[in-house]
Amino acid sequence: MELGRFKSFSFSILALWMLSTSTLLTPVQCIRGHNHAGGAPASESKYMATACRAHTASISDFGGVGDGVTSNTKAFSDAVSSLSQYASDGGGMLFVPAGRWLTGPFNLTSHFTLFLDQDAVILASQDLSEWPVIDPLPSYGRGRDGPGGRYSSLLSGSNLTDVIITGNNGTVDGQGAFWWQKFHSKKLKFTRGYLVELMFSDQILISNLTFLNSPAWNIHPVYSSNILVSGITILAPVRSPNTDGINPDSCSHVRIEDCYIVSGDDCVAIKSGWDEYGIAFGMPSEHIVIRRLTCISPYSATIALGSEMSGGIRDVRAEDITALNTESAVRIKTAPGRGAYVKDIFVRGMNLNTMKWVFLMTGSYKSHPDGHYDPNAMPVVDQINYRDVVATNVSMAGRLQGISNASFTGICFSNVTVHMAVKAKKLPWLCTDIAGVSNSVSPAACAALADQGGTATPCPFPEDRLPMDDVELKECSYPRSTR
Ligand SMILES: *[C@@H]1O[C@H](CO)[C@@H](O)[C@H](O)[C@H]1NC(C)=O
Ligand SMILES: *[C@@H]1O[C@H](CO)[C@@H](O)[C@H](O)[C@H]1NC(C)=O
Ligand SMILES: *[C@@H]1O[C@H](CO)[C@@H](O)[C@H](O)[C@H]1NC(C)=O
Ligand SMILES: *[C@@H]1O[C@H](CO)[C@@H](O)[C@H](O)[C@H]1NC(C)=O
Ligand SMILES: *[C@@H]1O[C@H](CO)[C@@H](O)[C@H](O)[C@H]1NC(C)=O
Ligand SMILES: *[C@@H]1O[C@H](CO)[C@@H](O)[C@H](O)[C@H]1NC(C)=O
Ligand SMILES: *[C@@H]1O[C@H](CO)[C@@H](O)[C@H](O)[C@H]1NC(C)=O
Repeated sequence: MELGRFKSFSFSILALWMLSTSTLLTPVQCIRGHNHAGGAPASESKYMATACRAHTASISDFGGVGDGVTSNTKAFSDAVSSLSQYASDGGGMLFVPAGRWLTGPFNLTSHFTLFLDQDAVILASQDLSEWPVIDPLPSYGRGRDGPGGRYSSLLSGSNLTDVIITGNNGTVDGQGAFWWQKFHSKKLKFTRGYLVELMFSDQILISNLTFLNSPAWNIHPVYSSNILVSGITILAPVRSPNTDGINPDSCSHVRIEDCYIVSGDDCVAIKSGWDEYGIAFGMPSEHIVIRRLTCISPYSATIALGSEMSGGIRDVRAEDITALNTESAVRIKTAPGRGAYVKDIFVRGMNLNTMKWVFLMTGSYKSHPDGHYDPNAMPVVDQINYRDVVATNVSMAGRLQGISNASFTGICFSNVTVHMAVKAKKLPWLCTDIAGVSNSVSPAACAALADQGGTATPCPFPEDRLPMDDVELKECSYPRSTR
């Protein structure tokens, strides 16, 4: 597969200006954005992004009303379709000013930026007729909540290139309580939608925003590549159902950094399809970097690998992870029937406080799409490395349970200090059907992870750079008159 990279949009301002004056097709307010070497005039506002846009319009230009009551679904969809005309002419940006912009789901387009200004809130509609029902994902075979289709996601897109969702810490509010209640009382005919779902897309930036109270998962890139998620805050009640933070699913080349997540499910969950559907689709999640993540999730994991992993998960690099009051740190969930693998996982530097199990691996995660999975499709779990971990107030250091006759292998723990809680379990480690090594681990790991002695090589962490490590943001601007 070709490694697509973020393209650099350097262009001649003059040439674009001349081009655009002859291609103004609609009454869109359209003013050039450009970068001056010696500082911008006071009439421009700045932001950082992977690509700048030549054309900017405001949702107000399309009849949008930010009163929290009026539906803006048509305004958003008209705005995106109007700005899509600039895809090959410098790109378009839709500016959402301060206000409460109620909307049903709408689709994004290529070479496009959705910008939420400070105090701009996109509010998810609670009118079910606004939510199109779409097909299940091919790698899942059915909706995650139940058989059949699923509601579209609030901000969606398929087969796109170069999509940016950013702003001055504006908010996307899913108004999830409405959905959680219906989910608990089994009143939903279809699987809940997410706040963001981009499918079959390349070059995605999601940054500098707050996501609140999603109906279910917050950010779901799927079958996509070259994804940067940076500086976002995700908040949901810790008992809300399935409000996972960021779920790269059959995605490659992903960088998640400087995010703060409080949620009712995993803060980050890396996935790749479910049992026979995921095996047939066969698209792994790989080359994923997660750094400077802060997580609070009392009933779930900081970073989960699986449980849907039937396309494979490999080369995940997690660094500088902080978790407070979270059930576990980096956890592996799988089961017979999943097939594929979780391998080459590298974790370095975790600071953890108040946890049930720091390390959790389970090979018997019982959830299957239907009865047609192959019980002999055993997942391979191999080369899982953790180093430089400090955890306090912990009930159990590790509960590591592989699959009988499909043991988890190559597990490595190095420089790990766990301070047990006053009311800790008697045994700090429980290990079945696993094999590996340990080195400077306290309390001492189980016999299956024999101590190599202080001089042994610590668990590795890759030194090479991935293409996503070199993606940089550039300074962009839009006319301050945009409102
Ligand atoms: C978005 O586009 C997809 C096709 O890619 C379509 O099925 C879906 O209904 C569209 N969603 C909305 C809200 O228009
Ligand atoms: C999107 O891309 C996928 C994979 O290449 C393809 O199967 C699908 O038909 C495309 N969808 C659209 C709406 O073009
Ligand atoms: C993010 O938004 C804040 C304002 O809320 C701004 O100061 C900062 O420069 C933005 N960062 C980027 C990377 O755009
Ligand atoms: C963004 O807003 C949220 C609340 O909506 C706040 O908790 C967070 O600190 C803000 N982030 C930045 C970078 O200002
Ligand atoms: C052990 O981990 C701590 C962080 O938890 C780090 O400061 C220290 O340098 C590590 N020691 C070695 C020998 O790598
Ligand atoms: C330790 O963890 C328990 C829950 O297991 C919690 O109730 C308590 O507040 C924590 N103590 C500290 C000092 O964080
Ligand atoms: C795994 O063990 C089960 C019994 O526990 C047995 O039926 C099966 O054939 C074994 N599979 C392999 C691949 O050894």
